Formats: sequence, structure tokens, C-alpha cells
Amino acid sequence: MAFTENDIIVALGHVQDPDLKKDLVTLKMISEIRLEENKVHFKVTLTTPACPLKEMIRKDCIAAIHEHISPDMEVDIEMDANVTSHRNSNVNVLPSVKNIICVASGKGGVGKSTVAVNLAVSLARQGAKVGLIDADIYGPSTPTMLGIRGRKPEVRTIKEKHYIIPVEVEGIKVLSIGLLVSEAQPIVWRGPMVTSALRQFVTDCIWGKLDYMIVDMPPGTGDVQLTMIQTVHVTGAIIVTTPQDVALADARKALNMFRLESLNVPVLGIIENMAYFTPEELPENKYYIFGRDGGKRMASEYELPFLGEIPIVQAIREGGDEGKPASLYSGNEMVKNAFDAVARNTAREIAIRNANFEVKPTETAHS
Ligand SMILES: Nc1ncnc2c1ncn2[C@@H]1O[C@H](COP(=O)(O)OP(=O)(O)OP(=O)(O)O)[C@@H](O)[C@H]1O
Ligand SMILES: [Mg+2]
Repeated sequence: MAFTENDIIVALGHVQDPDLKKDLVTLKMISEIRLEENKVHFKVTLTTPACPLKEMIRKDCIAAIHEHISPDMEVDIEMDANVTSHRNSNVNVLPSVKNIICVASGKGGVGKSTVAVNLAVSLARQGAKVGLIDADIYGPSTPTMLGIRGRKPEVRTIKEKHYIIPVEVEGIKVLSIGLLVSEAQPIVWRGPMVTSALRQFVTDCIWGKLDYMIVDMPPGTGDVQLTMIQTVHVTGAIIVTTPQDVALADARKALNMFRLESLNVPVLGIIENMAYFTPEELPENKYYIFGRDGGKRMASEYELPFLGEIPIVQAIREGGDEGKPASLYSGNEMVKNAFDAVARNTAREIAIRNANFEVKPTETAHS
């Protein structure tokens, strides 16, 4: 019996995207259907290359063809991705960036920069176009963590206006104040200078097309945070915390800042860093040095997604100091898996957010 393209579409109409809660045909994810005798080829375009449900969706497609068409049909699926965005094309700051994610915390030293850097390189390794802005003007750490200290971003002049070209490393584009001022020079800037430096990162810099721009924020809830949020239309924030009460108390302050009605930045979820320590020779033993599940509890208290936990591992600190991000270079599977899971969960929350986005007046106001 011969089947038509329409039969395939009807069959695939039974496959749901579990996150977006609609079928793949309605979501316009199916294309390039080609039928041969007993074989079908089609393309599934997901909302992110870092989709945690990729394999499940592929299996569901094969099962649907076998169930609704023929159990003998050979199924050849090409998995592709087109990252979604709700930053509509009217935004005049960074219009070619699909999603902007602020990595924030209330307390200092909880691992924001470590998470931001590893999140960025993990997303890039999974196939996304990624940029990283180091918004920590007074204490930039991304040049060290990515091994690019001393590299000077190129400046290009177009129609008598100067533009900064971000530095490329590990498949991501990076800009940090640490790359623009000499290291020996202490950064004693006044508030307005900081604000204008940050503005330049987004207005006078050629970023090109990006799926995700990760912003490594300084600790706390001050000027820099406000400038960033008020200058660009931010997709969402993720909060990094360690499990102990003093860190959680500050994380709540950061969370509440993003939720202020005047800012109204959605919080995409919480990451628990330094969740536990495991000695390499005794991987079964976990020591909850800073307490247990603090970040997880906070996520459920605020009804926010928990994006994952990162253990305390010496290789993470070493990778940071040596400019070799642990998720790429440590050779430690537990570390790599932990950062990859955080990246996939973040990408997933962004996709869900974009699918359910409704434009509210306040959300376009600062574009
Ligand atoms: N999971 C981890 N295991 C081991 N070391 C870690 C881990 N996370 C972060 N570190 C180390 O802890 C130190 C502080 O981390 P990081 O600089 O990322 O924190 P931060 O929140 O960005 O700090 P700041 O508030 O100063 O910007 C760094 O030396 C980093 O390498
Ligand atoms: Mg930092």
C-alpha cells in the first residue's frame, strides 16, 4: 500500500512536545518529508540544539510512524534546531540576539562566573551560537576563566563610529572590561562611568547573530544589575546559590529584585552550586558541607524550576584558574554531566518561556 505525505503528517500529529504541550505538526517542527517505497525521511526542528528531550522525541516519532503507518517502515530522521525568541524584531538594542540570560546571585563568590562560563561553552558545544558578557566591571573574572587575559578585542570603525569586536574562544564570543583596561590599573570608576561602559558592551559592539547571550552579573542588587536590565530586553534571569542559609537569604533578595514590578524580569530557575563534595576515590560518598538541598527548597518555595546542582570538585576551581572550563577539559564525567544538564534545563526553560510568551506593556517598555 502506498502512503502519502499527508499520512505521515497525520501520524506525526500524534507526537507531542512534552514541554510545549502541543503536537509537532501544530508546532511546525516537521519539514522535508520524503517517501520512498518502504522508507520515510523527515526533519524535526526543535526549539534548541540543547534539547533534553531530543532522543525521546525521536523515539516517539519512530513509534508513531510504526503505529499509524506500518511497523515495517524504515524511519530516517534529521534532528535540527532553530532557537526561539520573544525578543521581537522591534528591540533596538541587540536585535540579532534571540535570548539574553542574566546569571545572578545575591551573595558574592557562590560561583556565578563559573556557572556563566561553563553554561556558555556547554550550549555552544551542543550547537548553539553563544555570547558572554562579563558585567562584573569591578571584578571581571571571565578573561582568567577562559584563558584570554591580555587578548585585546579588535576595534572597527564604520562610518566614523567605533565598534568593539568580541573575542572568540571555545566557540563563544566574549566581552569583559578585563579585556579593555590594563590589568595593573585598578578600576576605580564612578557609577555613571560603569553604566556607560556596560551600555557600550551592548550598543557599540558587533555581536552578530546569537541564540543565547549569557550575562555574568556582579553579586548583589545594585547599579550594574539595574543598568543591564533597563538597557536591554532581557529574556530571563537564573539565580545561582550555594545551599547554606546565608547564601539563600541573599539569593532571595536577588530574586525579588528581578520580580519587582518596575523590572519584571522572569526568573527562569535556580542553580545550586557547591551542592556537595565527593572525593574522587570515593564517588559514592557525598558530604553536604554547606547543608543539603537549600537551592532545591528555595526553588519549590518560589515555584520555580530547579535547573540543577553542581558538586564541589577541585577540577572546577583549577579549570577556572587555568582558563580551561571544567565542563570541556576536566575529563571528569560527573562535572561535565552536571554542567550539560544545567545548560539543557536552562535552554528548555527558555523555550517554554518563549512558547508561552505574551507581550505585556511593561515588557516592551525598556526595549
Ligand atoms: N562547584 C565548584 N567546585 C569547586 N570550586 C568552585 C565551584 N564553583 C566555583 N568554584 C570556585 O569558587 C571561586 C568563586 O567562584 P566564582 O568566581 O565563579 O564566583 P562568583 O559568584 O562569580 O564570584 P563574584 O561574586 O566575586 O563574582 C572560584 O575560585 C571558582 O573556581
Ligand atoms: Mg563573578
